[in-house]
Amino acid sequence: MDILTVIKTRRSIRSFNSNEIDDEKIEKLLEAAKWAPSAGNLQARDVILVKESETKHELVDASFGQRFIEDAYMIIVVCANTAKSESGYGHRGAYLYCIQDATTSIQNILLMASALGLGSCWIGAFDEEKVREILNIPAEVRPIALIPVGYSDTEPKPPSRSLSVHNEKW
Ligand SMILES: Cc1cc2nc3c(=O)[nH]c(=O)nc-3n(C[C@H](O)[C@H](O)[C@H](O)COP(=O)(O)O)c2cc1C
Repeated sequence: MDILTVIKTRRSIRSFNSNEIDDEKIEKLLEAAKWAPSAGNLQARDVILVKESETKHELVDASFGQRFIEDAYMIIVVCANTAKSESGYGHRGAYLYCIQDATTSIQNILLMASALGLGSCWIGAFDEEKVREILNIPAEVRPIALIPVGYSDTEPKPPSRSLSVHNEKW
């Protein structure tokens, strides 16, 4: 599949079946995360793999009751490591670059999942402190997205898109 097809056919999936994902595919998801661009190549992002049912259930509560996430085979929690980025770029690293480092990895994971025939969804609506508590995340690390990943029997239709392009100047 060419890259634009992968980009355009990726969908947010909110319904998962109970099929397991083999380790080879999980490795590819992590490889995709690893090779995302990052500011100064500081790679100020970390991931947590959550497979345990009880922990997934706790994350439902932390994400304001988004129940479908616990049906996914696993939830990849992508975090921004503020300290790592701050060490290279000070304040701009701590408040911006580490978030961007995390989000480039998030997008790579979503696209890789889609290319592997897996469903996934970027979950950004959650209580950061609750997620931190559940997963024992240290203070200098911020959870940026929960990504439930699993097989799905659904094929949602693509929602519409537009893009404002300003030639030369706004
Ligand atoms: C920053 C961000 C936060 C999001 N948070 C959620 C969320 O909490 N729950 C959810 O179901 N989808 C969430 N989404 C997914 C969007 O709703 C989805 O990408 C959008 O509707 C377009 O659909 P598509 O991904 O299928 O193209 C989020 C996406 C982004 C980029």
